[in-house]
Amino acid sequence: MLTLESRDVETWNQLLPEAVSGRSGPAGPVERQIPAEQVGAFRFFVGTSLAGSADPRADAWLDAGAAADGADLRASAYVAGLLHGSGHLEAPRGAFDDPRAYVHFATLPAMRVCRGEFVSFTVDSLPAESGSLRVLDVGCGDGGLLAELLPALLDAGRWDEVSAITLLDPSPAMVSAAKSRLASAWPAARVESRVARLEHVASTLPGPYDLVLGSLSLHHMPAEVKHRTLAALAPSIEHLLLLELDADHDSPELGSPRLAASVHQTYGWMLAQILGPNPPDAVARESADRFVAPELVSLLTQPRGARSEYHMRRDRWLSLLSGAMGPDIRPLGTRTVLATPHADLFALHLGRTA
Ligand SMILES: C[S@@+](CC[C@H](N)C(=O)[O-])C[C@H]1O[C@@H](n2cnc3c(N)ncnc32)[C@H](O)[C@@H]1O
Repeated sequence: MLTLESRDVETWNQLLPEAVSGRSGPAGPVERQIPAEQVGAFRFFVGTSLAGSADPRADAWLDAGAAADGADLRASAYVAGLLHGSGHLEAPRGAFDDPRAYVHFATLPAMRVCRGEFVSFTVDSLPAESGSLRVLDVGCGDGGLLAELLPALLDAGRWDEVSAITLLDPSPAMVSAAKSRLASAWPAARVESRVARLEHVASTLPGPYDLVLGSLSLHHMPAEVKHRTLAALAPSIEHLLLLELDADHDSPELGSPRLAASVHQTYGWMLAQILGPNPPDAVARESADRFVAPELVSLLTQPRGARSEYHMRRDRWLSLLSGAMGPDIRPLGTRTVLATPHADLFALHLGRTA
């Protein structure tokens, strides 16, 4: 993944006024000061800066960005398409109102590999326990990942049975899908659900939980909220398993080079997976428009505190979690569960040791 050093950030910030003023267009003199491997991301940076003020010159930068990116990254091409539709960047409805849009992405070949590797890591990293499992799935989505994880944990002898499943998600449609799935797979377990954001209920959840799963959900709050939410949850947790996208969308401010470069890579990769190399079918198009577009537009138009996404790099997660959860809950393992040239996903395990 492209990571900008401080001197790159300085250069991009110095060149931006020249580029947005129109004195230098794509492939003009400004760009000759950018290393070749950064040109696609820089064009996205300029194009989205112009799009933020509904400047029609955004098109030229984004089209040039799409030409530089090729088929593996579709961020500039996709944002150009959104602009052609409405002329400005407008956040569509919530990304998780309809589970189908996310589920399409979660079941693509790359994400199946990623989830399979996450399940293997979880089984390898958790110690053998006896007795019954009480699990909380934070941001459970449609429950597909938990449904895959639980049989693997029991098969590997991590627990003997599943006694309680708590499903938490702010999307009523997600909770409903997850509840039907888990209740029918585990008829002997007590299956409870909450329609809520974790940060609003963390201190009131009954617990205790042998296992808390947070897959692609805890990044929906800024670092300071993550910190206090996880601190509130810590006393009820034995083990915490996270699956997250390795990206830098928390501390960088709106319109900054670091945010643009990270969004360009990670959302560009996601869009390339979803839309594929050929003209996308209706399901793929809907997944991009309903799941990815709300997040992408939020990152490109809303400041910290208002936007919906706060992905962080793995080392930042580790230090935040270690600080928030206290000395009794320690990092016990991590694994890259999907490595690609543009985006990685990783697993983290923190827990109590005897
Ligand atoms: C990318 S999906 C992941 C779903 C599922 N965990 C999986 O891995 O397939 C993110 C989920 O987190 C939920 N979510 C968003 N903000 C949340 C928050 N503040 N607290 C808990 N869940 C949240 C969304 O509604 C959505 O269902």
